[in-house]
Amino acid sequence: MLIAGNWKMNKGKIDEAVALARDVRIGAYNLKGKVDIMVAPPFTVLSHVVDTLKGSRVKVGAQNMFYEDAGAYTGEISPDFLLDLGVEYVILGHSERRKFFHETDETVLQKALKAREKGLKYIVCVGETLEQRERGEAKDVVGRQVKAILDGGAYSENLIFAYEPVWAIGTGKVATPELAQEMHGFIRELLGENRDTLILYGGSVKPENAEGLLRMDDIDGALVGGASLNAESFVKIIKIAEECV
Ligand code: 13P
Repeated sequence: MLIAGNWKMNKGKIDEAVALARDVRIGAYNLKGKVDIMVAPPFTVLSHVVDTLKGSRVKVGAQNMFYEDAGAYTGEISPDFLLDLGVEYVILGHSERRKFFHETDETVLQKALKAREKGLKYIVCVGETLEQRERGEAKDVVGRQVKAILDGGAYSENLIFAYEPVWAIGTGKVATPELAQEMHGFIRELLGENRDTLILYGGSVKPENAEGLLRMDDIDGALVGGASLNAESFVKIIKIAEECV
């Protein structure tokens, strides 16, 4: 299992980032060690968070990266810069990036191929909007997003999928465990012989609803937004995950 915290564009001031990372580190200290843990802060505090978490079980991820190593790409971040800092994970194709920054299945694939080449662990986010679900297209959409990665040759042992239904992100409307399980089972089928790939659930995961989700057969962890901005609630979710392994 993996419990990952996506801080999004929060906790980007150095003091608050270091304080949150330190509190997660302290909270994780007494855990049983059965679950992998990752936090993904904003780029500008990555090096501070890496330093704060050095020697602990909590790994660090980036929320995005570009698919070239270097060059005239103003404003972009190379995977080599992340590796140089000691970053081990990268989140790719989050629905907020697809929505606000026009990322497509094609650009997400290019990024996944680059992360694969570089040996980063890459979490590819997939998920349908409310309109798509209401039109009965949820599986078409998620199937297309997953197949773009698999058919594009971006599978590796470092690939992780995160099913994040867009209507459940930041809304407090968590998917029921049964609905999430159905989509996770669907993604698992698409993975075929690579069915051991981790599939995380994301969307309003909180200590109050984590157990029902994490007990489902095909839910291998969580990508946590809001509840990862508080060390106590994030560590609670990790503890619940340990009971569900
Ligand atoms: P929330 O947990 O705040 O709904 O965010 C989920 C998410 O988008 C994680 O990547």
